[in-house]
Amino acid sequence: MLKRLVLLLVCEVSLYNLVTSAKVCGRPPQVTGAYVQYEMQVYEPGQEIIYQCNPGYKMTAGSRKNICRATGTWPSPTMKCSPKLCSYPGSLVNGHVLFSSLEFQTTVNFTCLEGYILHGHNDSECQHDSTWSNPLPVCKPVTCGLPEIPKYGLIKHHTKLTGNTTYFGDTVQYECSSPYVLFGNEFGSCSANGNWTETPECKLVTCPPPTDIENGFMSFAILRKHGYGEKIRYGCKPNYVLDGSMEIQCEKTGHWSTKPVCRASCIISVKRARIFYNGQKKWIEELPERRVQHADTVAFYCKDKDRGCGYPVLTQCVDGNLIIPSCYEEPSKIAYSVSYRSLPSEIKQC
Ligand SMILES: *[C@@H]1O[C@H](CO)[C@@H](O)[C@H](O)[C@H]1NC(C)=O
Ligand SMILES: *[C@@H]1O[C@H](CO)[C@@H](O)[C@H](O)[C@H]1NC(C)=O
Ligand SMILES: *[C@@H]1O[C@H](CO)[C@@H](O)[C@H](O)[C@H]1NC(C)=O
Ligand SMILES: *[C@@H]1O[C@H](CO)[C@@H](O)[C@H](O)[C@H]1NC(C)=O
Repeated sequence: MLKRLVLLLVCEVSLYNLVTSAKVCGRPPQVTGAYVQYEMQVYEPGQEIIYQCNPGYKMTAGSRKNICRATGTWPSPTMKCSPKLCSYPGSLVNGHVLFSSLEFQTTVNFTCLEGYILHGHNDSECQHDSTWSNPLPVCKPVTCGLPEIPKYGLIKHHTKLTGNTTYFGDTVQYECSSPYVLFGNEFGSCSANGNWTETPECKLVTCPPPTDIENGFMSFAILRKHGYGEKIRYGCKPNYVLDGSMEIQCEKTGHWSTKPVCRASCIISVKRARIFYNGQKKWIEELPERRVQHADTVAFYCKDKDRGCGYPVLTQCVDGNLIIPSCYEEPSKIAYSVSYRSLPSEIKQC
């Protein structure tokens, strides 16, 4: 009786060993972003486990459960856990929010535009409970002191001043009290480095008494120094024409702008000719004093002796000089008065 009992016991133990050693499951397969509740080294067939998403992750697909198969293997888990998302932290006035993702454990960076200083944290991390680790910072403008007032000048503020502080981007306009003249930039601004742009200077500008021009005259008879911007006019004597601007101005440099020049008219040295002048053919004695003005053009007629025809050749009066074309032949008195029909200006033109 005892023997049989022992035998039975031995049998059951060996049978049990056979089953358990072959048919248990090992550690369950891993699921990213998740863990197994009460995880053990060994599971019996039919034993059930439950997956849980890690903090910061949420279940997005599949089933939490998995059961150890009779064969001692685990089916592939179906559960999927994905990182939680934080909401957009908000936009930054005068700054940027930089991010590549808004998932759990990612960081957004905060930057301020040039001329603005970041007050607060420069980054923030998405936490497991979908909240941000840091609040939005504030971008405050760089401050400058008061702009320097130029000596002999004044400042026009474009933005209302409060106390002694000005802000990045504030602008002013400089003005010089008359007769001082502004040298430098008329406008100034509070720069990103906290300094005002360079203050302009107010200086007195005088030009020396203006001088006469040859063969001309000035509109002012009183010789005195002139201030910036003052103007003088010039004219020319009769038979001279003005070349350049009639008016000169005292410039910032303390010099006058370029004076004009009076150019002389020309007296045509030939006594007998028919010319083309001012759009018309004229006998030269029709011109008072045989005079043409500076820069005027005159055509003389030459003869092509081989072909027996006439042709015009242009010349110009340049400051008192007018060169007669070399091909021009001055006719004799008789040829000019009696047989003028055969002059190169009157015959068939080439
Ligand atoms: C945030 O700043 C860090 C450190 O400067 C940098 O490594 C990261 O790439 C930045 N992230 C973004 C989205 O700009
Ligand atoms: C953020 O601030 C820390 C110091 O507070 C600094 O070391 C880091 O460079 C800053 N990051 C950026 C992107 O400016
Ligand atoms: C501005 O600055 C001047 C001199 O530095 C000082 O006397 C004055 O109290 C300041 N005013 C304000 C409103 O801060
Ligand atoms: C601002 O102006 C001060 C005084 O002129 C000068 O010493 C300083 O270098 C300037 N700062 C910058 C950033 O240019």
